[in-house]
Amino acid sequence: MYTSKNPEYREAREKARSLVKTMTLEEKVIQLTQFMVTENTYNPDHVEEDGEMLAGRCGSLLGATGAELVNKYQRIATECTPKNIPLLVGCDVIHGCCTTMPIPLAQSCTFEPQIVRDCAAVAGKEAKLQGVSWTYAPMVDIARDARWGRVAEGFGEDTHLCTQMAAAAVHGYQDDGGILACMKHYIAYSACEGGKDYYGCEMSDQTLFNTFLPPFKAGIDAGVATFMSSFNDINGVPCSASRKLLWDVLRERLGFEGFVISDYDSVLELIKHGYAEDEKDAVLKGYGAGVDVLMLGNMYNKHIPALVAEGKLTEDQVSESCEKVIAAKYMLGLMDDPYIDTAKLSGTFMTEEYREIARNAARRSFVLLENDGILPLVPDEWTGRKIGLTGPVADDGDTVLGCWAFLKNPAKTVKIKDALEAAYKGSEIIYEKGVSFRDDAPDEEAAIRAMAGCDVIIAAMAEPEWESGEATSKTSLDLPKPQLDYLEKLFALGKPVILLIAAGRPLIMTDLKDRAAAILYIWDAGTECGSAVADVLTGAYNPAGRMTVSFPRRSGQCPVYYNVKSTGRPPVGKLIFESKYRDCEIGALYPFGYGKSYTTFEHTDGAISADSMGQDGSLTVSCTVKNTGSCAGEDVVQLYVRDLIGSITRPVNELKGYKKLFLEPGEEKRVSFEIKASDLAFWNADMEFVTEPGAFKARIAHDSSDDSMEFDFKVTE
Ligand code: BGC
Repeated sequence: MYTSKNPEYREAREKARSLVKTMTLEEKVIQLTQFMVTENTYNPDHVEEDGEMLAGRCGSLLGATGAELVNKYQRIATECTPKNIPLLVGCDVIHGCCTTMPIPLAQSCTFEPQIVRDCAAVAGKEAKLQGVSWTYAPMVDIARDARWGRVAEGFGEDTHLCTQMAAAAVHGYQDDGGILACMKHYIAYSACEGGKDYYGCEMSDQTLFNTFLPPFKAGIDAGVATFMSSFNDINGVPCSASRKLLWDVLRERLGFEGFVISDYDSVLELIKHGYAEDEKDAVLKGYGAGVDVLMLGNMYNKHIPALVAEGKLTEDQVSESCEKVIAAKYMLGLMDDPYIDTAKLSGTFMTEEYREIARNAARRSFVLLENDGILPLVPDEWTGRKIGLTGPVADDGDTVLGCWAFLKNPAKTVKIKDALEAAYKGSEIIYEKGVSFRDDAPDEEAAIRAMAGCDVIIAAMAEPEWESGEATSKTSLDLPKPQLDYLEKLFALGKPVILLIAAGRPLIMTDLKDRAAAILYIWDAGTECGSAVADVLTGAYNPAGRMTVSFPRRSGQCPVYYNVKSTGRPPVGKLIFESKYRDCEIGALYPFGYGKSYTTFEHTDGAISADSMGQDGSLTVSCTVKNTGSCAGEDVVQLYVRDLIGSITRPVNELKGYKKLFLEPGEEKRVSFEIKASDLAFWNADMEFVTEPGAFKARIAHDSSDDSMEFDFKVTE
């Protein structure tokens, strides 16, 4: 934990402080500078030669991975620089390192923080052995707009869930994995107008604090070491130059004690924002606001010493930033030994254990959107029959690894085709690709002919991995047109079509929903994609993922999210003059929290322990959950609350809790949720964090649209 509550961190800070006292101003600034070691297309000026390193002009690196390469740089830093201080090595280890885990959005659909922690732990352990000491994860931006491609990298649209996942990820990377985590992108980066990456937003403090800030706070409470300041501006002030956000809120109000790194060039970009005149002014504004470390470039080295000499920045601030960076190096053990023992690396990556964690995470992240009863395809029941397999990712080991998978190993991915052939030994798997999003041109006619002879068709369709992640904003969330056209031909065969959708965001399922026999949303599932798909299709695992983003019916409906504010003209579907679209049904196609199972669950006998509570009080709502189907499975029981009258308009629904439980067929269990009055607090019109007295509704639900079990209660003065 990178907080003074931790004696180890206090000690690291003290050691760092003593060292900083011996350093010149220039040496201190070097610790706040990061260089990139590989060429990059965005800004070729960032290419740094060994010579730069020899001159000892940076405290951290980006783009250096692999034990031997990192050892080389550590040797230069610790043998050839004035104070011999090792380097931090940063890398975007977003969902796995060598073993690729499902994308974070998929992980969130498990509704299990432990899965997120397990994935981060493996990622951290593998990254560490690659010489990486610092990951730029977790991304905890609340994602309400599927046009924004980075929905893939976060934990969905809900603040409560994202907050829990954020803490789990920090523990996984830092406590279990042994590397630094970084909360990003601070803040409201995901609220970009129109879903356009890098764009800014106008946002009230109430929305910022009630919706976007809590996951970041959870990271701090979990002891996170670093934060990343975002590219965007809020209400006209770029976040990488906002003293209010980086200092008053982050340090003073939330008590963050680690250090802040800029996003890639986000300080330099203050010039393009029209917020700074030139590089020097940008440094004054960015560093002055609290961006301790500059991601890439020499600007801090060039300008901070002069700004201190001119009295515009203080050396004390520089010493403090430097102390925090060096303290992290002590905490990581780099100050004692920065080298990776390459002799011990064999057999440490992509182990059976890590693969099992990836497989478990993947199958638990899949969301069954539709099933007319065709699934599961139990192998015994399909002996001697023909299973058609088609589509661009049926035999693919790359796209299914998703965006941001730098150290991926596509050759070691378990492909869907291989896994299904192994799982259905008694059946005939007939594979034809049929359609592609790459340069190859599969024979569509041959594929359709082959599929026509099958008893069932599994169509593995996808959004290409380069269409999700950073800089992948889109105005159409449809599957690529060639795939839609191909699907038409498959549907025309009149065979049951099981759709597998690999994607980094919710795609439009509206016209496919009722024509597919089943739809299993598998996201970008990672290294064990194929095994996880086989687990679910065969019924060896009963899917239990629940959507953590709402699915738009049409792209033009974005942003669509469940916890919207109340309006004076709610879309109840009775009047013309309601808040809705003329050409599209109201609400999400699949709401937040939605997901099917091979069994069914019933919630009955709802009860509430009291009909009111005081400001310090709590009450309990409960119900009986029964597995009413014929196979075992897991239900995600969800608790929502609505604050009926507030001093500002309130969300129509808010997730306040959830429980995932396993039930055998016919088994029932009592589930209860405690609601504390303090859980209902929010930042009000005067920016006070209060639980307002008044009437509330609680729901125990299957998903955010389910209002079948409601309870009324009051909070008193
Ligand atoms: C992204 C960050 C990432 C950084 C370093 C930026 O463009 O916004 O999320 O950590 O690059 O790769």
